[in-house]
Amino acid sequence: MAEILGLGMTHYTGLRFVDAEMSVFLQRTLKGGDVPEAMKDPANWPEPMRDEWGEDRGAAAAAIHRKRHWEAFDRMKRELDSFAPDFVVMWGDDQYENFVEDVVPPFCAYIAENFVSTPHLQNPDRPDPPNAWDEPEDKEFRHRGHPEGAAWLVEKLSERGIDIPYAYRLRHAKGLAHAFINTLLFLDHARTGFAHRLVPFHVNCYGGELIRTRGGQSAPGGGAAPRGPPAPAPRAPFEPPRAGGGPRGGAPPPRAPPAPSARACFDLGSAIARVLADSPWRVALIASSSWSHAFLTARNHWIWPDHEGDRKRLEELRGGRFASWRDLTHEEIESAGQHEFRNWILLAGAMTELGAGAEIVDYIESWALNSNKCFAVMRP
Ligand SMILES: [Fe+2]
Repeated sequence: MAEILGLGMTHYTGLRFVDAEMSVFLQRTLKGGDVPEAMKDPANWPEPMRDEWGEDRGAAAAAIHRKRHWEAFDRMKRELDSFAPDFVVMWGDDQYENFVEDVVPPFCAYIAENFVSTPHLQNPDRPDPPNAWDEPEDKEFRHRGHPEGAAWLVEKLSERGIDIPYAYRLRHAKGLAHAFINTLLFLDHARTGFAHRLVPFHVNCYGGELIRTRGGQSAPGGGAAPRGPPAPAPRAPFEPPRAGGGPRGGAPPPRAPPAPSARACFDLGSAIARVLADSPWRVALIASSSWSHAFLTARNHWIWPDHEGDRKRLEELRGGRFASWRDLTHEEIESAGQHEFRNWILLAGAMTELGAGAEIVDYIESWALNSNKCFAVMRP
């Protein structure tokens, strides 16, 4: 008989790097041209941000940050292991990894037996800091999929009038996209093994920014990168539609289409919960993303996240009022730099459907380490 467990966590790429360079996203943003000169000087930063940055560009704060994260990930892993799911459905953002110029779906479920990933591979144009495990650059990670469950989910959603894009193969050169491989690397940070089978469920969290910024690689902060892996070169030059309606032309599109709405995410999460509740499987649902991202938060000059916005979401989660996330507007989400929060809105839809509350395992704020991170267990 079906049983469902909900978990929320992060895939913060900074944790992949050594403590001394965990602040790499802030370092990159500060080198960009869009941050006001005055705000490049730590003397003008809020005091808690100066404290984190310290004299070591955040290295000491990073060690504390990592310790709390590994403890929270250990708890998430214990929850998963004791629940013993037949498979895990994980919601994560696709940042110009599989969703590129030729097709940008709102969502995509991946139906595959195995996933092979090489997350440490370097982009020579913009090398990442050394990885925290001192693993070789070409190390391969293998994870098992659950093609029967993934295909069944797509089919049953379709029977209810919800037709979801799906794919049989990842197009990202490094295998699983950052949101998924990071989460798996962190759940297994001690490298004892991760045996659970995975259905990656990608969400276009970046909406209109996805193509223009190549998934945030050239975010407004001026070169901040939200993830370790570099984007692959576009398969073909992006030629936006001509103003006169022609198929190709030089004029930029007046406005790129948005990400799926909060309502679409919430309702899809609800529908997935309904379908899985009628399934023969035990399924863990994981929403993976940090909340507000500094490099997406214009009001803070792209250098620290929107703490007020995230604290509101935290209180709604803690108080069992997360059904209200269905009503968040694009403006509310994106002005708070919470683009990736859409992954959590899917979880909120599913858990509302199942009548679950939330236990907050940890809520980790940061100024200099790009984002705030929440860990939650949601049990129907
Ligand atoms: Fe992400």
